[in-house]
Order: sequence, then structure tokens, then C-alpha cells
Amino acid sequence: MMPDTVSSNETLRPWDPVVRLTHWGIAAAVLLNGLVTEDGGRVHVWVGYAAFALLALRLIWGLVGTKRARFASFPPSLSTARAHLGDLLAGRYRDYPSHNPLGSLMAYALWGLLAVVTLTGIGMAGSPFEERPATRQESVASHDRDDEREREEEDEVLEEVHEVAANLILVLAALHVAGVGLESRLAGRNLVRPMLGGRSSGKEG
Ligand code: HEM
Ligand code: HEM
Repeated sequence: MMPDTVSSNETLRPWDPVVRLTHWGIAAAVLLNGLVTEDGGRVHVWVGYAAFALLALRLIWGLVGTKRARFASFPPSLSTARAHLGDLLAGRYRDYPSHNPLGSLMAYALWGLLAVVTLTGIGMAGSPFEERPATRQESVASHDRDDEREREEEDEVLEEVHEVAANLILVLAALHVAGVGLESRLAGRNLVRPMLGGRSSGKEG
């Protein structure tokens, strides 16, 4: 189906390097920790710290980065997303200066869940600058069993929230990839190429 509008030059351009680095880094970390690494193992925890650092970088970039990467360029709005969905279903396509309204909602949902999964992970594993197991041993050695039990209960809650958020991210990521594919087809241009550093050629190019 031919879109009504021709893509503007701006949105065919590659995403800036910080967006590309954080996107693919976070995607790789989520897939590794969700599907490959041993739950809570050394590699899992280090991949997790890396994911947290990338997320922090992207969120700061959302405030001070290039115009297209800034949150102000893609504010979350349910009504705009509904209108955009209506457009897509009717075969109309218009350009947006940054993420389209559905992509915007997905980005915020993924970032929110990533914050939950990385913070609960750090809550369980401790910060990379502190040696948590030593603290645990010390508390056992000092027979401070109440402290120890309290910490275990806290860890169980963190573990539960961590697991639910991790699974939700994997479900949303699958929907996200399907959405990128669908939007690319309906818009008649490849949305993935700008995320890889290339220029989207559009239907006519
Ligand atoms: C990048 C995103 C992450 C994903 C998708 C992810 C995913 C998971 C999953 C699916 C589990 C198994 C949960 C269960 O069945 O109980 C798990 C466990 C765990 N994760 Fe993560 N994780 C992530 C980040 C992190 C981070 C940042 C840390 C810490 C720095 C971390 C530390 C742990 C620990 C300690 C466990 C073991 C919990 C236990 O069974 O005691 N994770 N993670
Ligand atoms: C677990 C895996 C993934 C996660 C967590 C994820 C997350 C995100 C997030 C948060 C954004 C917003 C980017 C930003 O503004 O910084 C985004 C955008 C995007 N992602 Fe992913 N992503 C994943 C996998 C993929 C894959 C496999 C592809 C390729 C098919 C992909 C293609 C894209 C594209 C093309 C955009 C920009 C869409 C637009 O033009 O508005 N993502 N993704």
C-alpha cells in the first residue's frame, strides 16, 4: 500500500551514535540475560551492570542529547498513539520528527521495565563497588539471624519483581520487533537501517 505522504529527509537519516550504541547494547544485554546467561551468575550480573549503565546514558541523552533523541521530541500520548494506529489501519502514513507515537509508548514502557529489572538486580547482587557476600557472612558470623532472615525475605520480593519485569521485557521486545516490521511495511521504508547507522532509502529510493 502506498503511503499518502513522502518521507521527509530528516526521518530517513541515521539515528545518532549514542542512540545506536545504547539501543543495540541494551537489546544484546536483555537477550543475553533473558535467554542465555546463568540466572544470577557472574556473567549475568556484569551484563546487567552494563545494561544499567547504557540505560542511564540513554536517559541522560534524552535530556541533553541531539534534538531527535530528546524526550521532548517524542512525548508519550495515548490519544496520539490511537490516532496513529487509526492512520496505519486506514493506510495513511505521516512523518514524525522522532519515534512515531506507538514506538514512543513502547520505548517508555521498555525503559521503565528496564529500570525495574536492573535496579532489582542490583538490589539482589549489590553494587559493583561493594562485596555483598562478605557482608552476609559477617552477619551470619555475628549470629545476627534476624538481620539475615530479613534480608532473605527482601531478596525474595526483589527476585519475584525482577523475574516478572524480565519476562515482560521479553514479551514487549517481541511485540516491538513485530511493530517495527509492520510499521516499516506500511510506511514503505526500512526503519531498521537508520538504527544501524545507514540511511533509510524509502519506497521510491
Ligand atoms: C538486563 C536485564 C536483565 C534481565 C533480562 C534479567 C533476567 C533475569 C532472569 C529471567 C532471572 C531469573 C529469575 C528467576 O527465575 O528467579 C534473573 C535472575 C537474577 N538476576 Fe537478572 N536480569 C537482568 C539484569 C540483572 C542485573 C542488572 C542484575 C544485577 C546487577 C541481575 C541479577 C540477578 C540475580 C542476582 C538473579 C538471581 C536471583 C535468584 O534466583 O536468586 N540481573 N535475571
Ligand atoms: C530486547 C531487544 C530490544 C529492546 C529492549 C529494544 C528497545 C528499544 C528502545 C528502548 C527503542 C527506543 C530507542 C531510543 O530512542 O533510544 C527502540 C527503538 C528501535 N528498535 Fe529496538 N529493541 C530491541 C530489539 C530490536 C531489534 C531486534 C530490532 C530490529 C529488528 C529493533 C529495531 C528498532 C528500531 C528500528 C527502532 C527505532 C524505531 C523508530 O524508527 O522509531 N529493536 N528499541
